[in-house]
Amino acid sequence: MRIVYVIGTRPNFVKTAPVIGALRSRLPEGRHTIVHTGQHYDRLMSEVFFEELGVPEPDFMLEVGSGSHAVQTARTMERLEPVLVDEKPDLVMVPGDVNSTLAAVLTAAKLQIPVAHIESGLRSFDRTMPEEINRIVADEFAEHLFLHSDEAIENLRAEGIAEERMHFVGNTMIDTLVALEGRFRAAGSAAALGVEPGDYMLVTLHRPALVDGELLPETVKRLAALAHEMPVVFPVHPRTRKMMEAVESDHPGLLLCEPLGYVDFLSLIADAGAVLTDSGGIQEETTYLGIPCFTLRDNTERPVTIRAGTNTLLGLDPEAIAGIPTALAARSDAPPEPPPLWDGQASERIADVLA
Ligand code: UD1
Repeated sequence: MRIVYVIGTRPNFVKTAPVIGALRSRLPEGRHTIVHTGQHYDRLMSEVFFEELGVPEPDFMLEVGSGSHAVQTARTMERLEPVLVDEKPDLVMVPGDVNSTLAAVLTAAKLQIPVAHIESGLRSFDRTMPEEINRIVADEFAEHLFLHSDEAIENLRAEGIAEERMHFVGNTMIDTLVALEGRFRAAGSAAALGVEPGDYMLVTLHRPALVDGELLPETVKRLAALAHEMPVVFPVHPRTRKMMEAVESDHPGLLLCEPLGYVDFLSLIADAGAVLTDSGGIQEETTYLGIPCFTLRDNTERPVTIRAGTNTLLGLDPEAIAGIPTALAARSDAPPEPPPLWDGQASERIADVLA
């Protein structure tokens, strides 16, 4: 069995690492080829994850880099096609919903190579999000759909997708979290930044709808106000950093830092009093860890995190940040149950299906 794994962005290294590990040990005679598209390329957005997650060096680096959606997708397709033609894989494995995912699915489908999609079936029902378009295309053309939450089943059925293509296996990002638990519990990243465990808010923002326009300076202003009540730690994604520099926003009182490696970042989530984010993965990690999460978006493709009781949708509305301290005070401390099959074994279930 020859498998080509196509990965290119920070969250997708995390989602795919345990799947590569499980399939390499289950199919030791197989050929496992890793292609890094280069959608993310800064050391702190890329290499550091390969080192921490124990993923072997990529066999191919496509060095696609940044660009418009069309440019990024087209460049990936153009550079991936000859790799797939030479490798002749039996399967192309892709995670998530980013432009690298879309490009890999289209390239493989047109070469008539079966595709497996990790984290299939998520829907925000908001087609202004580039990721929603990528998800729909990936699920339409992938043959093996690996679902991480049961709500994905209904989403896929509604699109007429056949049951036999769906495999509810659980969340591979949580596999990585579980595997790193000893390390991140010992990392002490909060102390290294000079904040007390349980006492600070961790912030990440990177979605175009929030950071590419007028909402970003308003959000920073609201965070600075919140910092009078609790320390605010904000590792800044490169897209956000660029936009903050462009609008020269002032950020008194915020603890800004570079993007962090995964162990340090998980340590900061696990010790946070609360998290404010527009990321999908962080809504899941906080749910597993039982940390209150406030999501600065109008919708989420992960309603399972809301049902679990950890995640609150604030809307795409920076003003709502002011209400976080009151909402935190009103919360019950009952630890939530993680959603079904978020147990560290999802990648083994994927290996069961494929092997
Ligand atoms: C991408 C995904 C998004 C995912 C996110 C995770 C798409 C459409 N978006 O968004 O779904 O949640 O990754 O982080 O695929 N940049 C750097 N260094 C890097 C990478 C990016 O400086 O290593 C800067 C560049 O200025 C680039 C910008 O960030 O133009 C945006 O990068 P891009 O990959 O286009 O999208 P993300 O915002 O990272």
